[in-house]
Amino acid sequence: MADLLTDSDFDLFRKVIYDESGITFSSSNRSILDSRLKERLRETQLPHVQDYYKLIMSDKEEMKTMLDAVTTNLTRFFRNQPHFDAFINYVVPHIIQYKQGKPDTKVRVWSAGCSTGEEPYTIAMILKDILKPPYSFEIVASDLSLKSLMVGQQGFYSDARIVGIPDAYLARFFTKVEGGYQVKDEIKNTIRFDYHNLKHDAGLRNLDVIFCRNVLIYFDEAAQKAVVNKFYDSLAPKSFLYIGHSESLFGMNTKFEFLKTDWATLYQKNE
Ligand SMILES: C[S@@+](CC[C@H](N)C(=O)[O-])C[C@H]1O[C@@H](n2cnc3c(N)ncnc32)[C@H](O)[C@@H]1O
Repeated sequence: MADLLTDSDFDLFRKVIYDESGITFSSSNRSILDSRLKERLRETQLPHVQDYYKLIMSDKEEMKTMLDAVTTNLTRFFRNQPHFDAFINYVVPHIIQYKQGKPDTKVRVWSAGCSTGEEPYTIAMILKDILKPPYSFEIVASDLSLKSLMVGQQGFYSDARIVGIPDAYLARFFTKVEGGYQVKDEIKNTIRFDYHNLKHDAGLRNLDVIFCRNVLIYFDEAAQKAVVNKFYDSLAPKSFLYIGHSESLFGMNTKFEFLKTDWATLYQKNE
């Protein structure tokens, strides 16, 4: 099929997508942008891509829909198991130790760029399993893809998507329903799914752990650095940051300390 975008259209769209979300399209993934915009043109029944550009510039809702359409939402339960081994064996014990004797006994986690919810549900199942009173937890799961957030909020996953969940967790935290599994309310109620654009929205506060895995990979270095600095301000002392195992803060000159545990590498706010 012929390309939709001319060189100047491509420049126009990549600029607005970058300005609005931090997501960077290079010439090597231009065809992805092309096919996703074709889909939007079909749905809006507009004849030319320039008409669609005018629409997104004048209609905030369509801008959100366009950004949603160009995101990549690939995820799965227990993605990169060593991260969760480090969470269970190192991160949570250190948080508990730090909170010991203090009045605040809640562990606060942010899954930033949570896609369809598999990551925050993985964290919730683990915390439900290992945290004992007086400790409790809450998770904020955010994304700019409204379609993905709706899937997470619903908490239904088809048989094909529950791969990776240990049998004991599946039996304890899910109900078998027609065609798949439904997350039980005791887990669902620990997560608040929220629209949040990492490029523009203010960070959260007083968090103990941030998971932002396989999100920064779509940003250029300047956008990555801005987000990582925002994460630093969102975290409590002695807290932790996870990024994807193929991502790195190397050379970025941030205040985070690189941490090598027996299970996986991650970052710490060590002040
Ligand atoms: C590949 S998924 C990663 C999901 C999960 N963190 C994981 O590692 O499995 C990347 C997610 O980042 C989200 N994303 C991209 N840019 C974003 C932004 N500026 N603000 C919030 N979320 C964003 C996308 O919508 C997508 O759902």
